Amino acid sequence: MPSEFDLPFRFRRNRRSPALRSLVRETTVTADDLILPLFFEEKIKERTEVASLPGVFRYPEAQVADVVTAAWEKGIKAVLLFGVSHSKDEEGSDTWDEDGLIARMTRAAREAVPEMVIITDNCFCSYTTHGHCGVVVNDHVDNDLTLHNLQKQCVAAAEAGADMVAPSGMMDGMVLAIREALDDAGFEDAGILSYSSKFASSFYGPFREAGGCGLKGDRKTYQIDPANGREAVMESVMDEDEGADMLMVKPGLAYLDIVKGVREACGLPLAVYQVSGEYAMIKAAAAAGSLDEKAAVMETMTAFKRAGADMIITYFAAKVADWLKEGR
Ligand code: PBG
Repeated sequence: MPSEFDLPFRFRRNRRSPALRSLVRETTVTADDLILPLFFEEKIKERTEVASLPGVFRYPEAQVADVVTAAWEKGIKAVLLFGVSHSKDEEGSDTWDEDGLIARMTRAAREAVPEMVIITDNCFCSYTTHGHCGVVVNDHVDNDLTLHNLQKQCVAAAEAGADMVAPSGMMDGMVLAIREALDDAGFEDAGILSYSSKFASSFYGPFREAGGCGLKGDRKTYQIDPANGREAVMESVMDEDEGADMLMVKPGLAYLDIVKGVREACGLPLAVYQVSGEYAMIKAAAAAGSLDEKAAVMETMTAFKRAGADMIITYFAAKVADWLKEGR
């Protein structure tokens, strides 16, 4: 029967079958896009599940090789290493000790899987007694004193075999300072994945338990105000100018406009971090029967890529790798 309506276009013609839909799909997600964050704790014997992050564990330091090998076998090609420290002090000096936790984890991971892209999270909050991301002087985090310590920390990580250092403390000038220190120490080939546009977000709540960070107060004097979009894009533009190799927006889902803005303003590869609170929300909704976990997670992955991210840092990475394999 001829239609009564003379429509200019019918979008549903391209949606008629799975094969047709995949033919016109604009955005795809692959295991190559994933970075898996891992937590390793010193002085523990058994892995412990993070209560607020079901399925995420703090592994004993002795299991670095096993855990990184298992990730590689699942198809994960990049890991982001976090240390859970029992050796805290005022400044976080364990972070630049050549036999400190960051150096030991990195060496063990490098030895276990030489092909793995090993990225270290470079901050102080899990290594300081006060839980702030740097040196505290008169109740505030001193930017430039922290830069000196960050230089030492990143050189130690590169020395131990990290492909990339990932400074996450939102200190001004951190990329410039780290680049200079790495070059001076002969690590011209070690890259910097800057946590360039990182917001002071409530979505980091569960991380405090995962990372063993007992922060009193907040990070509003150094992380970006969630209300400031232009400023967040400028932060990434500046880090690109300072010599970063990759940029990041963090958190993810509530900041897709920033992902898009940074993508348009910068040419470097861009990562997005689906943070602990985002993971916890999906897990809780799925456990309550309100969401289909796999469908919801894959929808967020697609959204990150559609907004302009090249890479996704997510606690779901191993599961996503599995789901992608099943889908073939
Ligand atoms: C350390 C750091 C944090 C996260 C990654 N690195 C915590 C913070 O800034 O408070 C958050 C990760 C997450 O919530 O999954 N600076």
